[in-house]
Amino acid sequence: GSALALCTITILLSLSYSSSETVHRSQFPSSFLFGTATSYYQVEGAYLAGHKSLSNWDIFTHIPGKIEDGTNADVTDDQYHLFMEDVALMSDLGVNAYRFSISWARVLPSGRYGEVNSAGIDYYNNLIDALLLAGIKPFVTLNHYDIPQELEDRYGSWLSSEIQQDFGYFADVCFEAFGDRVQYWTTFNEPNVFVYDGYLSGTYPPARCSQPFGNCSAGDSALEPYIATHNVVLSHATAAEIYRNKYQEKQRGMIGIVISAHWYEPYSETPVDRLARERAMAFQFAWFVDPLVYGDYPPEMRQVLGSRLPIFSAEARRKLETKLDFIGINHYTTQYVKDCMFSPCPNSLSYGEACVYLTGEKDGVYIGNQTALDDFFVVPRGMEAMVTYVKERYNNTPMFITENGYAQATGPESVVLHDTSRIAYLESYLAALSKVMRTGADVRGYFTWSLLDNFEWLHGYLVRFGLYYVDFTTLQRTPKMSVKWYKNFLSGEETQK
Ligand code: NOJ
Repeated sequence: GSALALCTITILLSLSYSSSETVHRSQFPSSFLFGTATSYYQVEGAYLAGHKSLSNWDIFTHIPGKIEDGTNADVTDDQYHLFMEDVALMSDLGVNAYRFSISWARVLPSGRYGEVNSAGIDYYNNLIDALLLAGIKPFVTLNHYDIPQELEDRYGSWLSSEIQQDFGYFADVCFEAFGDRVQYWTTFNEPNVFVYDGYLSGTYPPARCSQPFGNCSAGDSALEPYIATHNVVLSHATAAEIYRNKYQEKQRGMIGIVISAHWYEPYSETPVDRLARERAMAFQFAWFVDPLVYGDYPPEMRQVLGSRLPIFSAEARRKLETKLDFIGINHYTTQYVKDCMFSPCPNSLSYGEACVYLTGEKDGVYIGNQTALDDFFVVPRGMEAMVTYVKERYNNTPMFITENGYAQATGPESVVLHDTSRIAYLESYLAALSKVMRTGADVRGYFTWSLLDNFEWLHGYLVRFGLYYVDFTTLQRTPKMSVKWYKNFLSGEETQK
């Protein structure tokens, strides 16, 4: 009896990723990048400083009712003025990389219709130089949901093929100005999110609502998400081609794209729910990556959408051959997926024309512990499955975990500082990552979201993702318990409980 009990306990312990799971720096290659991630709009503030123009998010957050707590990121963490302090925090943390994004409106206030803004160039030069001096590699995102509002007003941003030229020009300016010191470029952060939320559900700018299902009523063309994606993919290709032709030889960097990558488990083992998972993965993830690796949209999407999905011209196909150096995976959670194509659904569809319903709950039980974001559950095994999916579908193209992090509700400082759930989360997800890397997955880095508490889009300041607590009145940064944990982990010392 007791031997059986002991055996069961051992099996349970080794199957679950509990907070007692230890993970060590030495399980990862010494060249592995460990960092934190942020984006311009969420941390920089200084929204009018140095001749910056307004971005789509500057405009959007000022529309009453759009952001849950009625806030905006005019100031947020003010990293624009406090970057030296933040670099010092990173240096103390012991990270060797920092993932941040460049504000398009700061560098090119009027896109390609105006001058390059030298104040904007200076800011990023100073940030990059400070990072390098501290031994921290810049890992740079060109687009993190933001565009100069002028490009929206002039031609409708992602709905027009004109954006490809504008994005290419922006990328060119950045490669030229910063590429001598930047080895890692990503063109887009989570285009699947800004396309879905900007053109399907209408919750992000430009707030167009084309979803023919659910609670959308605006009725913009149902093809808009596909058109926007087509322009994103070709904008990536335009930028990559410029890099290959003008900079690759000298600068020798890598260029990739970052996709929001939830993992989905079939709600049941029925063939239709399994198929629904494949569809959900295609519509969420492969939609943006297949074209950059295989030159076309996923077959799973063509099957559903037929000719409503745009076709790549011969010229476009040639452009797509620029090769993706890496795939950036933003992974936070896993949900169940239920078929809505062959079976009736309990509720309205939740992922547009993929005809799938996503949920975190089955028979009253959640798939994992809940976090401060409704649909983010703690399911570390999803990290293994997600990385395996990318490895298998894309021939083990090099990967970076460009985001992974824990959503914490705001509250009294003393409570927020005590972020043991974040420590458990990071530990268990890193253990899962190390496990899948042992199967040969070519993962080269891991960035936790985020360095600091910051502006969490529609949730404003209600949700805190930082390792450092930020008092948004004084802008003071205070280390949470997770800082100590990450620091110990990175220094290779035993994990502290
Ligand atoms: C992904 C996005 O890239 C980032 O901007 C956001 O804050 C985090 N997810 C957390 O939701």
